[in-house]
Amino acid sequence: MNILIIGGGAIGSLFAHFLIQSGQRVTMLESNGERVEKITRDGLTIESERGVSTVRVEIFTSPQAIGKADYAILCVKSYDTERAVREVAPVLKSGTPVLTVQNGLGNVEIIAQAVGMENTLGGITAQGATDLGSGKIRHAGKGETIIGALSKESREKAVEITSLLNGAGIETALTDDVEGVLWSKALINAAINPLTAILRLRNGELLDYPETREIMRSAVEEAAAVAKTKGIQVKWPDPVAQTERVCQATASNYSSMLQDVLNHKRTEIDFINGAIVREGEALGIPVPVNKTLMLLVKAIEALNLKKNKERHHERISGKGRD
Ligand code: PAF
Repeated sequence: MNILIIGGGAIGSLFAHFLIQSGQRVTMLESNGERVEKITRDGLTIESERGVSTVRVEIFTSPQAIGKADYAILCVKSYDTERAVREVAPVLKSGTPVLTVQNGLGNVEIIAQAVGMENTLGGITAQGATDLGSGKIRHAGKGETIIGALSKESREKAVEITSLLNGAGIETALTDDVEGVLWSKALINAAINPLTAILRLRNGELLDYPETREIMRSAVEEAAAVAKTKGIQVKWPDPVAQTERVCQATASNYSSMLQDVLNHKRTEIDFINGAIVREGEALGIPVPVNKTLMLLVKAIEALNLKKNKERHHERISGKGRD
C-alpha cells in the first residue's frame, strides 16, 4: 500500500514510522522546508521505553512531488486543515480516502467539503507523542486509535485502514459513530490540553493536585452537557474518570498544546475549548470554565506572538547578536 501522511509533526511522524516498519510504502508531505531537509538527511527517529529506532522516509514540501496514494492520513494542526486539504485534493486520485486523526472539532467537515463525504474517514488517537525537533519523536505512551467512515460507501475503506494500522502495531478500533468519538476525545482534550499549557505540567501531574482535578472535572462536565444537548453519544460512561485514565496512560507526555506554547506556536484552542464554547453559547448551555481556559490560552498565544516579533526585530536590527 502507498500511504501519504500529511504533516510531519509528532503524530504524523509516529504513524509514518510504525507503518514503514510494518513494510508499508509511506510518503510524507510537510510544509516546513527545514524539517523536510533534516528528515531526508537523518530519517525519522522514535525514542521510547523500548529503545531508539530510525527509519528512512520520502518527504516533500510540494504535493506535486507525491506519487499515487491509496490512503492519505491528515496529521496537520486543525488550523491548517483547510489549507492542507485544498493543496492536496487536486493531486489525490479521485476516490483516495483521507483519514483525520487530528485533535479538535470541525476537521471532518472541512475534509468532506474538499474530497467528498464518501472519501472522508474520521478518527481519534490517544497516542502520546512529543516532538523533540525535526524528525525526532518521543513516544511517551500508547493509546487507542478509533476510526470510522462518514458514509456507508466508505465503510470498506475504514475496515481496510483499521487492519493496516493494527498490522503496524497502532492499536485501532472501528466505529460507526465518528461524531460521538470526536466529541468524546474533545472532552478529554478540553481538560488536559489547556491546563497543561497554562500551568506547564506533564499530563500525569494534573492528577497530583485537587485544584487541577477540579478544573478538569468542570471542563469535562460542561463539554459533556453540550454534547448531550446536541444528541451526541459520548463513548465513555464516566468522561471524568476516562480523562484521568488518559492522564495516567500518558503521564510523562507534554500535551500537544503545551508543546505548542513552549515552542511559541499557535495552538488548537479554537478547535477544542473554542468549539465547545461556540456550541455551548449557541445552545444556551453555561460553559464558563471552558471559556476561561480558552481566554487564558489565547492570552498566552498573544504574549508569545509579541515576544516572537520582538526577537525578530532585535535579530534584524542586530541587537540580538552575541
Ligand atoms: O493533544 C494531546 O496531547 C493528546 O491528545 C493527549 C491524549 C491529551 C495526550 O497528550
